[in-house]
Amino acid sequence: MPLEIELLKWYSLNKRDLPWRKNNDPYRVWVSEIILQQTRITQGKKYFNDFIDKFPTIYDLANSDEDKVLKSWQGLGYYNRAINLHKTSKIIVNDLGGKFPTTYDQLIKLKGIGDYTASAISSICFDKYNPVVDGNVLRFISRIYGVKIPIDSAQGKKKIKELANKLIQKTKTPGDFNQALMEFGALSCTPFPDCQLCIFNSKCLAFKKNKVDSIPVKTQKKKIRKRYFNYLVFKGNNGKTFINQRKEKDIWYKLYQFPLIEKDVLDDDILLSSDFSEYLKNNKLKISNTKHEIIRYKHVLSHQHLFIAFYLINLNTVVKDGYDISNLNDFTFPVPISNFISKYLI
Ligand code: ADE
Repeated sequence: MPLEIELLKWYSLNKRDLPWRKNNDPYRVWVSEIILQQTRITQGKKYFNDFIDKFPTIYDLANSDEDKVLKSWQGLGYYNRAINLHKTSKIIVNDLGGKFPTTYDQLIKLKGIGDYTASAISSICFDKYNPVVDGNVLRFISRIYGVKIPIDSAQGKKKIKELANKLIQKTKTPGDFNQALMEFGALSCTPFPDCQLCIFNSKCLAFKKNKVDSIPVKTQKKKIRKRYFNYLVFKGNNGKTFINQRKEKDIWYKLYQFPLIEKDVLDDDILLSSDFSEYLKNNKLKISNTKHEIIRYKHVLSHQHLFIAFYLINLNTVVKDGYDISNLNDFTFPVPISNFISKYLI
């Protein structure tokens, strides 16, 4: 049986029952695909259901505040994706009469919709023949055809896309075919697969040549940047603290945080440094009693390791223009900050 037919048959018997597969509504498929770019299915399902509860239709999303959208994204990371979902929902509602574009070329023009998402939406919702290439597809196709070009190169991705394209053209259901490829990569052709049980082992070049451990090939080693975040958590005797919104196009864009002193080296105690005295001067603060506790966390992102120190500074004065510590949950914080708040502040 040809590979594409066997794969579709496998999919019809093994596909997971997922909430966005109930109907092929483009709004739901779009939201699910953006969420699944950054998390696995189990956690993604939870975020998807919560998101759809809050914003059941594209109109609800377009009419919502950005802060509410960010709050629904808390913990997922890549917060720009939530900001773009919101911006694009407004464009679809206000400029396109609420109608989702149906082709790859129209979809890819929208903010936050790239090659992967445009292919997924146009094939799953509108039966268009655009192959999707995600990490699962790269792994499965490169093993089946024994592709030796590194999959983290433009050339490697192009090659895999061509091979997937040849297969999809032979099917009658491009949306199911794309999902079947991703599903098989996620459930069966995993990084450490059980090839003895695989239905494709007689067709798989990597298996036949005993190269499953070395395919897919990757070249680039990830460069990891180390950053040292020192957060000043003032606790006034009026129960207030200072927070601010991140403004730079950096990680955690538009999320909230405590006053930050970032350094590129680890400091034993930032409050003894000139950076801290300068901070007090710039903010017209006079603090004599700097008795404090330091709570340290390490937070690992894909390309950065963050060494975070929270300086818990109890003041015997009021914090003017601060926010009530008991209401901090109204704001969206990055995961390590929100963990710190639940453990030490609220
Ligand atoms: N991973 C991301 N999107 C997917 C989909 N639509 N089907 C299966 N796996 C996926």
